[in-house]
Amino acid sequence: MLMLKPHFKANAQGHLVIGKIDAVELAERFGTPLYVMDEQRVREKYCRFHKAFADLWPNVLICYALKANSNQAVVKILQSEGTGADVSSENELKIALRAGIPGNQMIFNGNYKTPHELELAITNEVLINIDSFQELEVVGKVASRLGKRARVGFRVNPDVKASTHPYIATGLRESKFGFDVASRQAFEGYKLAARMKNVEVVGIHAHIGSQILDAAPFEEEAEKLMALVTTVKEKLGISISFVDLGGGIGIPYKPDDSELQPEQVAKRVVRTIKRVVEKKGLVKPTLVLEPGRYLVADAGVLLARVGYIKKRQGMPTWVAVDAGMNALIRPALYGAYHHIELANKIRKKNEMLVNVAGPLCESGDFLGKKRKLPKVEQGDLAVIFDVGAYGLAMSSQHTAQLGPAMVLVNGSKVEIVRRRESFEDLTRLDQIPRWLR
Ligand code: LLP
Repeated sequence: MLMLKPHFKANAQGHLVIGKIDAVELAERFGTPLYVMDEQRVREKYCRFHKAFADLWPNVLICYALKANSNQAVVKILQSEGTGADVSSENELKIALRAGIPGNQMIFNGNYKTPHELELAITNEVLINIDSFQELEVVGKVASRLGKRARVGFRVNPDVKASTHPYIATGLRESKFGFDVASRQAFEGYKLAARMKNVEVVGIHAHIGSQILDAAPFEEEAEKLMALVTTVKEKLGISISFVDLGGGIGIPYKPDDSELQPEQVAKRVVRTIKRVVEKKGLVKPTLVLEPGRYLVADAGVLLARVGYIKKRQGMPTWVAVDAGMNALIRPALYGAYHHIELANKIRKKNEMLVNVAGPLCESGDFLGKKRKLPKVEQGDLAVIFDVGAYGLAMSSQHTAQLGPAMVLVNGSKVEIVRRRESFEDLTRLDQIPRWLR
């Protein structure tokens, strides 16, 4: 049995308990594969994150990164805590608006925003982080057509190295994102924007990567951003009022992973910003953060039923469960570790070496390799932890698998927040051309 994170318990039958509900009952009632989100845990994480920064700095805007989990119920929980939103597509923007998050508390990020998306953002006074010179031009045109001024910032690339998976490291110079700081490309962006009538320059933004477990890179990021804020003020007379450090604070996935406390990050970045603001006599900017994973990852688990067990001599036993890379792609895509246990044997000793596979026809379809589980039997319930971020959000219908359901638990209450996909849902958008009918 593992050390459960504090929001999970085990009951007298040795079953995992989420909120106040037995996971085994959830699986029986709602079927598997089943995503389960714990509302109280999301609230706790948001409050802690917000407090960490708000205790140290007067103006703080936490913008939940919807890409981690854009389920409307999840967004609604965070909206009720007062979050803003980091959106990266038109539909995320619409989901955030629908949840009641005001447009002027949203940040629009990404390297490919269509004129149509920009129009929606400008109309709703969303702060747009410009990613290229050409985008700046398009923003100017759209804003002028609407007779409005677009609120913009620049996504800059500060060349900060943060140790994480190469696919989710974004702050290095070779990354596709943003304006280069070192070669003064970013400064050129500000210079151009300063002369544009329909553009109001208010922000600076970077995102150095995801699943970062060390505070130092955030301090380096703040340092580099504040240097540019100073130059922009001194050379162009523009006061940057939103300093946006992006997301990226990681969580412990492995039992022995360390934890990065948001308080540590807050202390170091606020110290940096404060020093520069005071030394250079700058206006105190609003400090923006865009956490995704930190807020929702460990509030979510995936329940999957064990179907078949196959022994291999001298090798781990294969355990096939009914959720695979279709439901959770992170292990296949990034080699990511998600802790796995048996939810119906949570107190039993782990004694069997297993590989946990999904049901798809791909060798890459696994959830975990070389794991220790209690003696596994058909019908056991596997629980995959820390899937509340980039889990359902990145799921697919590969091999025509139906999208899993998701339920939300709040103490002893539970409701479906994402219906299980049906065969009808799955095939609804296909059409047979007339000549094949
Ligand atoms: N802001 C921006 C501009 C981002 O690109 C991201 C994530 C975030 C905020 C939120 O980052 P977080 O706090 O969640 O680390 N699919 C990958 C993660 C990709 C993250 C992309 N950008 C995964 O499953 O690990």
